[in-house]
Amino acid sequence: MKTLLRIMIYVRPNAKWVILAITIMIMATIFDLVAPWILGQIFDEGISKRNMSVVIGLTLALAGIQALKSIGMFVQGYSQELVGQNVVFKLRKELYEHLQRLSFSYFDRAQTGQLMSRMTGDIEAVKNFVGFGAMNLFTGMLTFLGTTIFMMTMQWKVTVISLITIPFILFVLFRFNHRVGPAWSNIREQMGRLTTTLQENISGIRVVKSFATESVEQRKFAQRNEQNFDTNMDRAKLEAKAFPLMGLYGGLTFVMMIWIGAIFVVRGEMSLGTFMAFQWYTWGIIWPLNMLGWQINIFQQAIKAAPRVFEVLDTPIDIDNPADGVNTANMSGNVVFDRVTFHFADQDVSKEKPILDQVSFRVKQGEVIGVLGATGSGKSSLIGLLSRFYDVTDGSVQIDGIDVREYELGGLRRSIGIVPQETFLFSASIRDNIAYGFPEATQEQIEDAARKSQIHSFIETMPEGYDTRIGERGVGLSGGQRQRVALARAILMDPPILVLDEATASVDTATESAIHEALLEVMKGRTTFIIAQRLSSIQHADRIIVLENGRLTEEGTHKELNEGSGFFRQLFDRQKQIAHQ
Ligand SMILES: Nc1ncnc2c1ncn2[C@@H]1O[C@H](COP(=O)(O)OP(=O)(O)OP(=O)(O)O)[C@@H](O)[C@H]1O
Ligand SMILES: [Mg+2]
Repeated sequence: MKTLLRIMIYVRPNAKWVILAITIMIMATIFDLVAPWILGQIFDEGISKRNMSVVIGLTLALAGIQALKSIGMFVQGYSQELVGQNVVFKLRKELYEHLQRLSFSYFDRAQTGQLMSRMTGDIEAVKNFVGFGAMNLFTGMLTFLGTTIFMMTMQWKVTVISLITIPFILFVLFRFNHRVGPAWSNIREQMGRLTTTLQENISGIRVVKSFATESVEQRKFAQRNEQNFDTNMDRAKLEAKAFPLMGLYGGLTFVMMIWIGAIFVVRGEMSLGTFMAFQWYTWGIIWPLNMLGWQINIFQQAIKAAPRVFEVLDTPIDIDNPADGVNTANMSGNVVFDRVTFHFADQDVSKEKPILDQVSFRVKQGEVIGVLGATGSGKSSLIGLLSRFYDVTDGSVQIDGIDVREYELGGLRRSIGIVPQETFLFSASIRDNIAYGFPEATQEQIEDAARKSQIHSFIETMPEGYDTRIGERGVGLSGGQRQRVALARAILMDPPILVLDEATASVDTATESAIHEALLEVMKGRTTFIIAQRLSSIQHADRIIVLENGRLTEEGTHKELNEGSGFFRQLFDRQKQIAHQ
């Protein structure tokens, strides 16, 4: 019921169209009720009394009614569909907007396939109900009630006796409704899982092929597909059981009507015209009930699909733009981490070790700071806090003395140019990929950024230069080339703070050197974080911090750290050893 009311909120702005459709529908129903009565009159007043002008007049009236009804049906069908489409449009828009605002924590857990299936199939199910099911349900009920009332007033005894089958039909419907709901719930869920399997398979096709696990994947998919098949067959069985039974009872109603009607006509208690009209009216009783079976299907499908959509819409946005957020236009880039402790959302704060534990350090504007640490030590997480991909559990991260949580969120993120560890490129031209955050950039600006990232000369050699389209996720480029495109993308933004998270890990050391040489110019006047596991990447850092298991264990210049005996010194010795071998 709550779900239904919530769907209605989306229908409300379309009240005008709903009222139009309902008005036409009521009129059409009245026509439907009058038509059999006219037929009765043709018999009783026309044929029985051999009055052809009555017959002609009334049949023309019937034809006129039918024509009017057809026009009305067209308008009704159109407005119904319009309402449905409007609801879908709004729901899809809201869902998409909400997805854009949900935080990293949400997407860490979310399954892409499930989200896609909610965005498409589930919303479509809601549309079918709003744009078609609900209105027809209403028409059906109205026709059923109207017909019964008409028949009752014309000959109540025949009506009551003939309609004895109706409770049976209602019982079948009731049971069907009860059982088909859970089936639809399963089907919607399984569709989500099927889409997830498909989506993960396509995204991970390189892994699948390299491990030659196609058959395993096929089995996995087949299993999901079979589950879906079975549940759908279970639902079909419910339909197969219910619908013919209803047809049988419906047929019986006709038979009863003819028997009882005939007896009453013979006894002179019912005119032949009324008898004929009753044959027609019986349809008005039977079809709404038969249709009800289908409408229950549509209704149950929508009522099970809608909560899946609402669930996403109801997910609170944990990292949001603060009201009256501080403007970032004049940000200079003094960064302070003040006793920062951080847990991921799915961690138990009281039991599990934090990812970052009481980390404090300062970075002055324009400084280049190297962040060194073993894999899993928390380097990427540290940087994520700066851009508010996640928020601290305790302590604070400040830029220019202001907590990052107080800045206008979009501005904050645009002020921090990140070259992430795992780059993502869109299926678009190289130019559009570089200019992703700054679409108005001129060709010169784009080329300049590409030069600094040591990718310009490569792009020049491509068949269509900067217009070359790259496939999904940058297919067609090597890992290092992708990284350099991402680097150009960040440089182009001209942000006061630049973060390179293993940004040169996939390029050879010679290219890395060249990039760093070029970056010297870029880094001037900018606060730059260089995250790395190898020392060559941080040779230009003014200062280095070392993370170990989420704790800041060392801090200082190359020279200072080299004199110590910590992680840095060990790394230095090890890498020197390798270099000498
Ligand atoms: N979304 C997440 N949810 C829960 N735990 C996470 C999540 N992302 C990372 N972790 C955990 O946090 C720890 C730190 O991860 P982080 O990515 O910050 O390490 P890192 O220092 O960048 O490592 P690498 O050098 O391999 O990139 C790891 O132990 C990891 O398992
Ligand atoms: Mg990392």
